[in-house]
Amino acid sequence: MDVTIIPLNQIYCDTVAALEVTCFGADAWPREAFTALLETYKENPDFRGQVWVAIGEHGQVVLGYVVLEVSSLGEAELSNLAVAPAFRRQGVGRLLTSFVVNICREIGVSLLWLRVRASNTRAVKFYETCGFAVRGEFRDYYKNPEEDALIMALELPEEADAEGGES
Ligand SMILES: CC(C)(COP(=O)(O)OP(=O)(O)OC[C@H]1O[C@@H](n2cnc3c(N)ncnc32)[C@H](O)[C@@H]1OP(=O)(O)O)[C@@H](O)C(=O)NCCC(=O)NCCS
Repeated sequence: MDVTIIPLNQIYCDTVAALEVTCFGADAWPREAFTALLETYKENPDFRGQVWVAIGEHGQVVLGYVVLEVSSLGEAELSNLAVAPAFRRQGVGRLLTSFVVNICREIGVSLLWLRVRASNTRAVKFYETCGFAVRGEFRDYYKNPEEDALIMALELPEEADAEGGES
């Protein structure tokens, strides 16, 4: 499958917001959350976060997206990730995750973390295959239904310390 990863722009905002509802239902970020991020990036060129969109089928289809938020403390949050149902289990999620992991490495982020619903065992499994491990939990973090969030993290040692590598 041909896949191109690009920063989110206005053209894809509606499609990404619709996919967000498909994938997360009551937990979905509203469209305004994506447009607000676009505004933030425009107004703060030094802001190091981004919504990345995977486009396939010769530029015709949004396959998925990932949101990376980088803090000034040397760590980053993978704050959203989804792949369109019709394109799951074809490596798109892994591609998007590797993409942001590589960005983190390039800019010297030492820890990439995320929150996931405790009952979302498929996503937990997916993240484990990408090298993340469960490090803790936030009690009752999610609403509708109320549920704990698992905190998963991937440590990104500097190249010199990464002897033996990690997935
Ligand atoms: C989680 C998600 C992003 C995975 O995307 P994907 O493109 O299907 O994942 P990949 O094809 O790259 O999968 C890579 C590996 O992860 C594991 N994996 C992926 N989906 C899985 C599932 N449903 N069950 C078990 N393992 C899974 C498998 O080991 C898979 O390799 P394989 O297909 O060769 O067995 C996708 O299922 C999704 O969008 N889910 C709904 C939204 C969501 O839950 N996002 C995460 C919220 S924190």
